Amino acid sequence: MAGFRTLDDVNVAGKTVLVRVDLNVPMKDGRVTDDLRISRILPTLHELSRKGARVVVLSHFGRPDGKPVPEMSLKPVAAALATALGSSIAFADDCVGDVAKQAIGKLKPGGVVLLENTRFHAGEEKNDPALAKQMAALGDIFVNDAFSCAHRAHVSTEALAHLLPAYAGRNMEVELQHLEAALIAPEKPVAALIGGAKVSTKLELLGNLLGKVDKIIIGGGMANTFLFAQGREVGKSLCEKNLADTARDILRDAVARGCSIILPDDVVVARELKAGAPSKVVPAERVPADQMILDIGPVAAARLGTVLADCKTLVWNGPLGAFETPPFDAGTVTVARTAAALTASGRLLSVAGGGDTVAALRHAGVAEEFSYVSTAGGAFLEWLEGKALPGVAALAAPQPAAA
Ligand code: 3PG
Ligand code: MG
Repeated sequence: MAGFRTLDDVNVAGKTVLVRVDLNVPMKDGRVTDDLRISRILPTLHELSRKGARVVVLSHFGRPDGKPVPEMSLKPVAAALATALGSSIAFADDCVGDVAKQAIGKLKPGGVVLLENTRFHAGEEKNDPALAKQMAALGDIFVNDAFSCAHRAHVSTEALAHLLPAYAGRNMEVELQHLEAALIAPEKPVAALIGGAKVSTKLELLGNLLGKVDKIIIGGGMANTFLFAQGREVGKSLCEKNLADTARDILRDAVARGCSIILPDDVVVARELKAGAPSKVVPAERVPADQMILDIGPVAAARLGTVLADCKTLVWNGPLGAFETPPFDAGTVTVARTAAALTASGRLLSVAGGGDTVAALRHAGVAEEFSYVSTAGGAFLEWLEGKALPGVAALAAPQPAAA
């Protein structure tokens, strides 16, 4: 991996290692409802433990806004982490100061302690040097295994990498390897499938992708804005009419750069977004005035199958329709399964991530069949936008001397 060091480059035996992970996991009634992020950090935690490090786990949880909020304690997550690790772990009620020091002091080599939510301190999100100094004083080495937090320049994601010898954890490494394979040095042709509700949230991303991929497939609510920009009526559909000019600029830029933008040929419409609502398929230029577009149609889904069959690499972000409300999941499910089948036959490298995407692929039953599914939401989007992620950049910065 270019530019920074990994766990292959350090001897952690007997060292106290601060490991930033992302335990910002979905919870309901005190239980973790999706353990993808937990399962992805196990290789790093097991490796550090096996090699005899004292493992000090740091994470945020939710957005407590710089003060302790009991509902945002990481304590319930500690139980889930211990189960996943297959060994008991300690928990400390603070991520700095005496409470943290004492808990770390009790660790044996190989032992693991999870510290309380880093965002309980206002300095965390401000990347405050004083808090950074306090946190850095707890350990000898910093390992960042939280790609999904790398778009945040916070103490535990950024500042620590300048104060301690810093290394990428295994999860960070794997995320970056796959993202590089998908966009930095991909096998061509490359398609980006970009769905989701609004063009306004994906303008930068589309601008960046135009220069990098051969085809951009647009679906979801944002396709409506493009259809409208091309002079089509979209009835009651979600549509950002004020962005019609911007959408036309994007379409023009795409032509200039030799990137084809693919919009749905046909769409599924209904009077309301409701499970089982009566719906019909119409050509994209014949959306009735009293109806809304809620999915791509079967002709569009079949065409996307052909497009993907001609590509070697796919980056997928966002659903193609209102997939949480059947029958408007059909387009997303069909195309996701096509991508999974092409991946299984070795013809396509498929990388997905961001927001609703994992949920959509799970719904289609193919999340395990993609080449790689990122655990990142916002960080995946910023990466697609071509932005430098502070958490990654800090790992590549000149390092303090080894402890
Ligand atoms: C995420 O869930 O996207 C990460 O954990 C980052 O959380 P944040 O958006 O609250 O910074
Ligand atoms: Mg987020």
